Amino acid sequence: MCGIVGYIGNRKANEVLIPSLKRLEYRGYDSAGIALANNTTCQIIKSVGKIINLEKKLNKKDLDSYHLGIAHTRWATHGAVTEVNAHPQQYGKITIVHNGIIENVDNIKEKLQRENIKFKSETDTEVIAVLLNKYLESNFIKTINKVMNLLKGSFALGIINQDEANKLYIVKKSSPVVIGVGDNENFFASDISAINYFTNKFIFLDDNEIAEITQEKIVVYNGCNIISKNVNTINTDINDYDKKGYPHFMLKEINEQPQILKNTLTKYLNDIKLLPDLTSYQELHIVACGSAMYAGMIGKQLFEQQAHIKTYVEVASEYRYQEQLYNEKTLVIVISQSGETADTIAALRKAKKQKQDTLAIVNVKNSTIARDADNCLYTEAFEEIAVATTKAYTLQVALLSLLSLKLAYDKGYITDLDKYLKDFRQLPNYLKKVIAQDQKYQEIAKVIYKSKDVFFIGRKIDYAICLEGSLKLKEISYIHSEAYQAGELKHGTISLIDKGTPVFAIITDQSIADKTMSNLIETTSRGANGYLITTESLKTGFAQEIIVKDATNFVQPLLVIPILQLIAYYTACLKKCDVDKPKNLAKSVTVE
Ligand code: F6R
Repeated sequence: MCGIVGYIGNRKANEVLIPSLKRLEYRGYDSAGIALANNTTCQIIKSVGKIINLEKKLNKKDLDSYHLGIAHTRWATHGAVTEVNAHPQQYGKITIVHNGIIENVDNIKEKLQRENIKFKSETDTEVIAVLLNKYLESNFIKTINKVMNLLKGSFALGIINQDEANKLYIVKKSSPVVIGVGDNENFFASDISAINYFTNKFIFLDDNEIAEITQEKIVVYNGCNIISKNVNTINTDINDYDKKGYPHFMLKEINEQPQILKNTLTKYLNDIKLLPDLTSYQELHIVACGSAMYAGMIGKQLFEQQAHIKTYVEVASEYRYQEQLYNEKTLVIVISQSGETADTIAALRKAKKQKQDTLAIVNVKNSTIARDADNCLYTEAFEEIAVATTKAYTLQVALLSLLSLKLAYDKGYITDLDKYLKDFRQLPNYLKKVIAQDQKYQEIAKVIYKSKDVFFIGRKIDYAICLEGSLKLKEISYIHSEAYQAGELKHGTISLIDKGTPVFAIITDQSIADKTMSNLIETTSRGANGYLITTESLKTGFAQEIIVKDATNFVQPLLVIPILQLIAYYTACLKKCDVDKPKNLAKSVTVE
């Protein structure tokens, strides 16, 4: 989703803004732009497509005299992908970049049009610029407050007011923005990773706060009152954005999984007490979006079967609006790679408002969800660049699995803890072997990449794994794919099975192995091209069978996941898709 950055200091502003903007590319975008200001002018340069297109335009200009600027990557919401709709948007003396969505834009725009104001773009952002210009007064903080009160929705804004061209203003409401504090220079950005190679000191704005930033000073307001904010020193990993010889980040990230599993899990395997004690809870609500929610579905199976605790999994975008029946013994677990997903943040805030205990499983350190939850476990997968999650998802599953093991042990359902911990210790090696069978997955991709539809079937925990396998395939290869509880197929979907339709059955759970196998045979009897992914002890001799090592219930699902990731990856490559940046998708979904 949109990314914003800003700079004020002695350096050439474009030389800070463009590299910073590039560090936000992973979020997904379709156009980019920059505004550079000095006392006399504010130049705006924009282009559609990748940042490199913008750079080509910048290279033709002499921009050495600009030491203040704002820049933006746009993921279109209001209006098509055009240069006019790209940010910065300018009206009168105001130039702004915006991440978020203004929900009452139509109303406001209509009123302004009645006042004969002509809009150049189709964006909601231009409306904000018009309002700021309309209500402009010498106390710009007052102006901003007035406009904020008129806007409904979410916004992180970076603003240049030409009357005060030695300042940047930023505003935050429900969209992320962080200030980077430098030495005689200051920065802002949608996330730390865009500016952490300039500074390790950050100020996190809370909702409804405004910052006035000069080269020397940062003043933060709530309403018109100055408030004091902590400056946090945070040493983060600086991603080198190097594919390390892999053709895509996604393949690199899939291959990183054994190592990062080891890095993340070792401390818990050495001392499981480092994981939170969940014994006081009677039920769990796992809330997340997309793959993170599918990780939660695996967690549900393990929590219920192994630790006998009722677990509900809900999509955050629904959870936030539905009546929730909590009791004081409900723990709400939110899961998010980015820690900035708007719906998941809203669900977390709802749970907190209702005074529920909250635990977050997050990858990005110091992200909004990591900061807001009562307790946070980090997946520590380092930065994930490919839009489709792989390593962060795997770590989410692994942490949920370990949490369920600990709870099962604490509640006395499991006594031989060491046996299970040993299996987790072996997990990185098991995974290396799964990933090493790369050739097999490439062969499968060669068969399925021309298919119209692909189905994944499984029951219980295997169904939860299927959901992620299906999402991975469709999001990067654009092949229509669905995951079904194997028993449901007969109730409608089996009519879609034609000669050659690929059907992947996942069978790792012995209790339903025969049932799912029968369902697979039902499809192959109707011409489907069936694949069975199963374990050594459950193998059947099925013609197209991928076998993974037997492992404990806690580790077993983790062995299947890379197979599905790699099949999706090679299929997308054969289809010549933009694997790391699938069309229409954003890495960090910061709007509803
Ligand atoms: C799919 C994918 C998405 C995310 C979802 C939640 O590959 O990456 O489905 O899982 O958008 O994002 P986070 O985990 O950042 O909250």
